[in-house]
Amino acid sequence: MSVIHVAAFRSYDVVIERGALDRSGETLSRLSAPCAAAVISDTNVAPLYGDRVRASLEAAGFRTVSFVFPAGERHKTLAGYGEILGFLAENRLGRGDLVAALGGGVTGDMAGFAAATYMRGIRYVQLPTTLLAAVDSSVGGKTAVDLPAGKNLVGAFWQPSAVLCDPDTLSTLPEEVWRDGCGEVVKYALLGGGPLLEMLRSGSLKDDPEPVIAACVAMKRDIVAEDEFETGRRKLLNLGHTFGHAVEKCSGFTVSHGCAVAIGMAVMTRAAVKRGFCGEETLAELLALLERYGLPSETDLSAEALCEAALSDKKLSGGRIDLIVPEAFGRCRIVPADALELSDWLRAGGAK
Ligand SMILES: NC(=O)c1ccc[n+]([C@@H]2O[C@H](COP(=O)([O-])OP(=O)(O)OC[C@H]3O[C@@H](n4cnc5c(N)ncnc54)[C@H](O)[C@@H]3O)[C@@H](O)[C@H]2O)c1
Repeated sequence: MSVIHVAAFRSYDVVIERGALDRSGETLSRLSAPCAAAVISDTNVAPLYGDRVRASLEAAGFRTVSFVFPAGERHKTLAGYGEILGFLAENRLGRGDLVAALGGGVTGDMAGFAAATYMRGIRYVQLPTTLLAAVDSSVGGKTAVDLPAGKNLVGAFWQPSAVLCDPDTLSTLPEEVWRDGCGEVVKYALLGGGPLLEMLRSGSLKDDPEPVIAACVAMKRDIVAEDEFETGRRKLLNLGHTFGHAVEKCSGFTVSHGCAVAIGMAVMTRAAVKRGFCGEETLAELLALLERYGLPSETDLSAEALCEAALSDKKLSGGRIDLIVPEAFGRCRIVPADALELSDWLRAGGAK
């Protein structure tokens, strides 16, 4: 069992423990007097884990209600969010009650945003069930839904009251969802180096995910503690994402998020080598890791299209975009670039 304390606007523990779902009632009863808990999950996760969480919460004295929405990013919308709010109101949840987001990043983002805004904000807990949610989205308090104009355009910073991660839930993940999470894990290894990199080299992630999840969460905790609202160092977590989002968009979302981030990191690191920011050995190690975890490193999308897509990203400020450039494993820096420079970076990274 690992417990990682996150110090933010609201401080909380991330508990990573096999069987955490079955103990969720007991754990949450230490944080809250019995109250109503709305368990929000999607159509894939609810049948697998919904009853276990509700049973545990009810055994600990919570009154539970559950809301299930259709699985998938395309349901992370204002309409989906509105339905959750309506459900909370119909079931008379009050200011002292609780939302439990049981699922992947889509569930955490949308249920978290509902909790952030319902009655001007009620408590919520994250029960992540994908690798991506366990290592990244369940921690740090970013909540959001998508608009037709782009991803995560409406949201709030709203920290959970606890994150209870049960690594056993990862055993039911489809292979491509698992692989997507690996893309984010490799990102943490490139950002942090050290023991996490060693763990990934030794290849024990699938057999024993807990130490890897704990290492990623500890890194995110450190970054969030320093820059909760992403005005500086938290931007480092966008490593691979600027070009990654562009790849997702230009491929018409046929390239999944984790695979796109993998390509984004590879393109950026190739360019960093060409421009003298980083050594060949870092690129070689990154490409070996991506291959080991079944992730791609190449794209045949054009630099022009990728540049245009990257420039329409919301993280653009004053016509410039912050690139996260690797110098070595464990050392990345923020380099602002304008449109022309961005296109040069993409070409140097191997985009046609
Ligand atoms: N808030 C943040 O800081 C942050 C960070 C990174 C990503 N995100 C967001 O996270 C989302 C992506 O998260 P995701 O990849 O977890 O997507 P997801 O929640 O859609 O889950 C992926 C798929 O796996 C299924 N699933 C989930 N857990 C399962 C399990 N244990 N067994 C079987 N199937 C399971 C889901 O039903 C879904 O079909 C995006 O919307 C992204 O914007 C947010």
